[in-house]
Amino acid sequence: MHAEPIEIEAKGLGKSFGDHAVLADINVGVRRGELVAIVGGSGSGKTVLMHLLAGLLEPSVGSVFAADHSREGAPLTKLSSLDGDGLDVIRRHWSMVFQKNALFSGSVRENCSLILREHGGLSDEEIDARVREGLRAVAMDPDAVLDKDRDELSGGMAKRVAIARAVAIDPALIFFDEPTTGLDPIIGGQIHELIWATHRRPRRVGGGSEKRTTIIVTHDRELLRRLGPRVIMLENSRGAGRVCEDVPYERFGTRGGPAAEYLRQMPVLHGRDAD
Ligand SMILES: Nc1ncnc2c1ncn2[C@@H]1O[C@H](COP(=O)(O)OP(=O)(O)OP(=O)(O)O)[C@@H](O)[C@H]1O
Ligand SMILES: [Mg+2]
Repeated sequence: MHAEPIEIEAKGLGKSFGDHAVLADINVGVRRGELVAIVGGSGSGKTVLMHLLAGLLEPSVGSVFAADHSREGAPLTKLSSLDGDGLDVIRRHWSMVFQKNALFSGSVRENCSLILREHGGLSDEEIDARVREGLRAVAMDPDAVLDKDRDELSGGMAKRVAIARAVAIDPALIFFDEPTTGLDPIIGGQIHELIWATHRRPRRVGGGSEKRTTIIVTHDRELLRRLGPRVIMLENSRGAGRVCEDVPYERFGTRGGPAAEYLRQMPVLHGRDAD
C-alpha cells in the first residue's frame, strides 16, 4: 500500500513571545487520513502549536507546510509565504472546533451557513442541504434546532453545533481544541463518537472521495483510549516545549518516562470548567 501524501508539516518550528520560548525544534509531519492527538501538561504549548499549524499564529523560527486542496498534486505550500488571501485559499478546506465553540450570537442556521455562504458558489438550497447534513452527522434533528438561538443551547448542544458547522464544509483537515473539556462523561462519550465518525467519513472530491485528517488537542485519556490516535506529547525541556513522544496510542507511555507519568495523571475527562 502506498503512503498517503503529507497533509501538513512543521519543520524546525519554534515560537517565542518576547523572551519567553514556548516551543522549540518541532518537526512533525501528518499524512492525509491520520488521526493525531497532541497532549502534554498545562502550558507545554499545545494550543500554540495548533494555532501555528492552523496559520493563526506566525512562527518565530521554522515553517509550516500544508497541502493546497485547490491545486491537486501541487507541492506543499509554506504558510508564511502567503498573504491573507493566499492563506484563505488553503484554509477554506480546513475547519477548527474551538474550545469555547466560538458560536456567534444568532441562530444555529446562521452559525452553520455563514461560512458556506462566504465560500461562495453554493445556492441557498445547497447551503441548506449541507447544513442539515452537518446537523444530522452530529445526531441532531435539523428541524428541531435550526431556528434555536445560540443562547438556548446547552454546553453539549453548542459543542455539537460547533462540530456540525465544522463538518458542513466537508473539510480535508479538521482541528479540535480540547473538544471534551468541561463536558460530562456521557456527552464526552458522544463527542468521541462524533469525532470518530467525522474522521472516518470520506470527503467528497470531484467524483470520488478522499480521507480526512484530524488533529486534536486534548487532556482526555478516555478520548485516547476510544480513538487510538497517533499521540504527540509536548514536554518542557531545555527551556521550551518540545516533542518528547510521537507514537501510536498502543505504544504511548509504554517506555516509562514523562509519557507514562502523564498518562497516569491524565484525567478521564478534564474536570475543570471550560475557561
Ligand atoms: N499570545 C501569547 N502571548 C504571550 N504568551 C503566550 C501567548 N499564547 C500563549 N502564551 C504562553 O505560551 C505557553 C503555552 O501556552 P498554550 O496555551 O499553548 O499551553 P497549553 O499546552 O495549551 O496549556 P493548557 O493545557 O493549559 O491549555 C504559556 O506559557 C502561555 O502563557
Ligand atoms: Mg491549551
